[in-house]
Amino acid sequence: MSLTTTQPPADGQEYGKARHPFHVTGEEERQLRLAGAKAVPSLVIGQATTFDEYARQLMIPPAVMDLARKAEDLRLSAWEVEALRAHLAPAAAPGDKVGLLRQILAEKYRHDQSHPPYIRVACSGRGDYDHLATEHGHLDPDDHPKGDIGSPVVLEIWPAQHYSPIHSHGHTTGIVFCLAGQLDVMVYEHLDRDARKLGLLTLTPGQCAWLSRDNYAVHRVYCPMDGGGGTTGPGYMNSTADFGASFHVYLNPDQTAAHDHDGDSYNRDSFDYIDEETKEKRAFATESDLSWEVLRRVLANTPQS
Ligand SMILES: [Fe+2]
Repeated sequence: MSLTTTQPPADGQEYGKARHPFHVTGEEERQLRLAGAKAVPSLVIGQATTFDEYARQLMIPPAVMDLARKAEDLRLSAWEVEALRAHLAPAAAPGDKVGLLRQILAEKYRHDQSHPPYIRVACSGRGDYDHLATEHGHLDPDDHPKGDIGSPVVLEIWPAQHYSPIHSHGHTTGIVFCLAGQLDVMVYEHLDRDARKLGLLTLTPGQCAWLSRDNYAVHRVYCPMDGGGGTTGPGYMNSTADFGASFHVYLNPDQTAAHDHDGDSYNRDSFDYIDEETKEKRAFATESDLSWEVLRRVLANTPQS
């Protein structure tokens, strides 16, 4: 990978600075945004309007361009966004019933407070919390106790001010296509707590970031929207219904035209990440929280205000 500008130095203190999620100063953020805007190949895929943009997108792998082209017309409809907001909203008063997504966030928060939770929706297969939709009265009883792993197509819902740990998508080839709200993506050189930051970008609906084994496979995603006060970080839970949403596709190495036989799988069944508390590298099986089949029915049954 090559970049056209001098990069900010690795700060070596990713976890030494207080401000979550990126642990950078305002000036470092500005430099990283400039670096992101000039990265080669381009971090973002779009219709080039300048020769320079065209040149920076030229070396994006054809398999990635194909995924991006197929996703470019995807949008959440206005009623889907409103229904998602209704299910993300915090309780109006203590003890009030909350929607399915806020319920799942609370459940995930109980298990892991190392970073604020987000929601992963598998577009194929089952989710870990599909059964909660039953408790919401939206579904017939379902006896699946656990979700599937490795869905190639995933919808991610990012509550305002919530973020992921630094993680790697291994040897997969994929896209991160913004559907709603706003998402910040910090791209790292490799998977390490002190890894050099390559660039920061903000995705808005219709914009597409990407990753491959050789480029931009390691990142952290953060929704910079209004979380309702308080400072984000471990143990944070927002108090608004604002969110960003992104559509992700991950192709395994043998599913792209550029398959090479290196003997490693590094497929989408498991991705590595840096644990925010222990700072150790760990692997997570890519189970999802919900299936799109279930969430779509829940959203369709949600009264609109
Ligand atoms: Fe990711």
